[in-house]
Amino acid sequence: MKNESITKTFAVATALCVVCAIIVSLSDVMLKETQLRNKALDKQVNILSAAGLVEPGAKVSAEEAASLFANAETVVVDLTTGDVVDLDPAIVESDKTNLLELAEEDDVAGIKTINKYAVVYVFKDEQGAIKTVVLPIVGQGLWSTLHGFLALNGDLKTVAHIVFYDHGETPGLGGEISNPVWTKNWEGKTAVDESGNPVIHVVKGSAENAEDPANAVDGISGATLTGKGVTNTVTFWLDYKGYRPFLSRLRNGEPLASTSSETSPADANEN
Ligand SMILES: Cc1cc2nc3c(=O)[nH]c(=O)nc-3n(C[C@H](O)[C@H](O)[C@H](O)COP(=O)(O)O)c2cc1C
Repeated sequence: MKNESITKTFAVATALCVVCAIIVSLSDVMLKETQLRNKALDKQVNILSAAGLVEPGAKVSAEEAASLFANAETVVVDLTTGDVVDLDPAIVESDKTNLLELAEEDDVAGIKTINKYAVVYVFKDEQGAIKTVVLPIVGQGLWSTLHGFLALNGDLKTVAHIVFYDHGETPGLGGEISNPVWTKNWEGKTAVDESGNPVIHVVKGSAENAEDPANAVDGISGATLTGKGVTNTVTFWLDYKGYRPFLSRLRNGEPLASTSSETSPADANEN
């Protein structure tokens, strides 16, 4: 076959494509486990960061993360009742059969549906008292869905930390919600009032000038709309459709042990 022939050109191009496709597929398959492990570690680090046990963005090994997690109880909460239920957190997080539609007036966070069950992380001190409760939160920002963790202190009223680990807001504007310099403003702020009503909110400008500085957080200049999304997200999750029933049980000193014998989210859905 002549070197310049069309057939030979096609044959070489096809062979190259096949070889490249095999290399890409093999790397994908071979790296899958590492990717899953890294994703799980990343999530653990974000939770630990929300709990105040590691600095945001810190490099933490899987062993360190596991040892810090030893003080955490991972519990599954039925958001409709606030009960802790006996379900596997991994199944709950991947199961899509328990989505509840939100009525428009309830959908403060702009998320349309929520999972009936949420996985929360309770960190305790050596005496067994609650130090922090880390709550997953999700809501609509200006351009994107914001994913984060809100951690409350053991008083279940004030903020320990907040972390946003995934969003598509503009870098330098709304994207500043994941900047630890900004999230530091949340620490120690009052999240809910004495009756459990969510009161924390992002203001336009400085919280010092707000009417209620104890429950106000500095706005990000040029990103008022993302700030509103953050306020709505936190408000939703601290209220009745979110963690309010669970938090009120904790405040009443109810134990974290499961109060239900449900065995699978799918079964629970049928009841
Ligand atoms: C390219 C571009 C990107 C923007 N990204 C954001 C953003 O991520 N979050 C946000 O709240 N506002 C963003 N804005 C600005 C909003 O349109 C709006 O002006 C702003 O939220 C008002 O905030 P301010 O009152 O603090 O200026 C962006 C504007 C432009 C032109």
